Amino acid sequence: MMNVTEMNRQKLTDTAKILVSNHKGLLAMDESNPTCNKRFAKLEIPQTEELRCAYREMIVTTPGLNESISGAILYDETIHQHLKDGTSFIKALTDKGIIPGIKVDAGAKDMAGHPGEKVSEGLDGLRDRLKEYAQMGMQFAKWRAVIAVGKDIPTKACIEANAHALARYAALCQEAGLVPIIEPEVLMDGEHTLERCLEITEEVLHTVFKQLYTQEVMLEGILLKTNMVLPGLACPKQESIDKVADATVKCLLQVVPAAVPGVAFLSGGQYSELASARLNAMNVQFKSRLPWELSFSFARAIQQPAMDIWHGKETNVPEAQKALYHRAKCNFYARRGEYDATKEK
Ligand code: 13P
Repeated sequence: MMNVTEMNRQKLTDTAKILVSNHKGLLAMDESNPTCNKRFAKLEIPQTEELRCAYREMIVTTPGLNESISGAILYDETIHQHLKDGTSFIKALTDKGIIPGIKVDAGAKDMAGHPGEKVSEGLDGLRDRLKEYAQMGMQFAKWRAVIAVGKDIPTKACIEANAHALARYAALCQEAGLVPIIEPEVLMDGEHTLERCLEITEEVLHTVFKQLYTQEVMLEGILLKTNMVLPGLACPKQESIDKVADATVKCLLQVVPAAVPGVAFLSGGQYSELASARLNAMNVQFKSRLPWELSFSFARAIQQPAMDIWHGKETNVPEAQKALYHRAKCNFYARRGEYDATKEK
């Protein structure tokens, strides 16, 4: 582990542990401007910087959010913004005991010679950007790779290129003292079965950990953020909560080393309540036998009900905040294996 100083090793290990401790999880609020605008457009909310800022202020000022959320993943625009009273978003989160982190990939771009596949960019100049982010108070970072499923895809070329980029990003993060959240996401779009998702997720994670080993990334100082093992959204055969929990945990046990402190799932377009129920089932059935924490790092499955209520209007903020608090709390219960329908009342 040549690139991590002794001081950084301790800091990275501690931060990664804190992010998955006390049954809390991560709130992903790092949608890029185009993605945030797309979600606003669906609800006919004007796509302006002012409203993106107001929306993020609604999230950051939600009372009691820190009861369930250990860290929030921000986007570059957001870390330069302030609450109406002039407090920076970073300070507002830190004051509540929520650790701020930052998305640093520059997006998934079409891969040359591989129609339908993407590779995430952003390594150029990353060392300098990470240094700046660390100075601004960020303690962790995120890089997302997307793996599409379809006829003849994903290819080895796509999986390996993304895994290589993730490992180089992770090494740079650790050098800068930031915990890398390593996010390979096998997408839910498509007709594929749960078995196919299992096979692909296993291969992707196996390739990612091989690259992390090659790049000498310290596993105690990372978090894995990945998809649950699910049938595609258009697959005629949808599976029970227990089957998804079972397949997901079996897959992770095959490929995620015990030194990794935690796995935090993305929601990927699952309904909020289903994402909570599936996470709950994994913790009920397997928690006592797993080497790592099973946590959440949801964007849509925490934010969507709140965004629907907020709808771009200041007067809706208190109700939207209640919905956000509620979803975060449901996932906190899911981590404890205590989530059920009564928690939705
Ligand atoms: P979703 O939970 O909406 O999938 O988002 C998680 C995320 O951070 C994607 O990068």
